Amino acid sequence: MNLILLGAPGAGKGTQGKNLSERFKIPQISTGDILRANVRSKTSLGLKAKEFMDKGVLVPDNVVVDMVSDRIQQEDCQKGFILDGFPRNINQAEVLESTLKTMNKSIDKVIGIEVDRKELVRRLSGRRVCRKCGASYHVIFNPPVNIGMCDKCDSEIYQRDDDKEETIEARLGVYEQETLPLTDYYIRKGLYKAIDGIGGMDQITNSIVDAIEKGRSNS
Ligand code: AP5
Ligand code: MG
Ligand code: ZN
Repeated sequence: MNLILLGAPGAGKGTQGKNLSERFKIPQISTGDILRANVRSKTSLGLKAKEFMDKGVLVPDNVVVDMVSDRIQQEDCQKGFILDGFPRNINQAEVLESTLKTMNKSIDKVIGIEVDRKELVRRLSGRRVCRKCGASYHVIFNPPVNIGMCDKCDSEIYQRDDDKEETIEARLGVYEQETLPLTDYYIRKGLYKAIDGIGGMDQITNSIVDAIEKGRSNS
């Protein structure tokens, strides 16, 4: 099963992707996480990407497209994968489609997690992430047991550079301009399923799972 999670910054793609990955035993592929890992280890890709990420704009398509193509050809993606944060514009979606075609694969479902702008800003400005394992927290909605420390691995949790107020605005603008058109794009392909992204995290996971299973029994 090959899934795409669409949604604005802060909609919960990372949170839901993780839950779905455990539920369906297929990997979650977050282009944002892969890029941040490259920034951390100062690879040439990371150094290049950082400039764009700090501004809240998209990293050039050729960089991310190659990254994803390599990733989905790996063994652990044979039974399926969950794309989180990719594609981000029509060009990326088209390249993805043709890459999958050469592998005799296709996208089975696109889940659009819908959250209003005010809530997105609340979520992003309060988010904290573990430096080591990447686990995501929120100072109010999902705080760690010990302040400043990851529940899972005891490492330090920090605020992402692009979760500062000015950058959040820029990211939401880029989303509306470049990524939102993908909703219509996938509706036309009959793949899009909207999910209400407001509510408990597990409840939202259940709605997504229901939508996926329903799609399966219809086909
Ligand atoms: P990326 O890392 O993908 O960031 P994003 O799209 O801005 O999305 P986020 O990770 O901020 O949000 P999310 O939807 O994962 O939400 P989360 O689950 O964490 O991209 C970063 C940058 O990398 C881009 O700006 C760009 O420069 C570059 N990039 C990445 N992909 C690219 C691509 N394909 N092309 C070009 N450039 C690319 O949740 C957010 C917060 O809310 C958390 O604190 C969480 O605990 C909380 N939360 C989640 N669910 C709920 C809930 N139901 N109730 C209450 N709180 C909740
Ligand atoms: Mg994310
Ligand atoms: Zn951790």
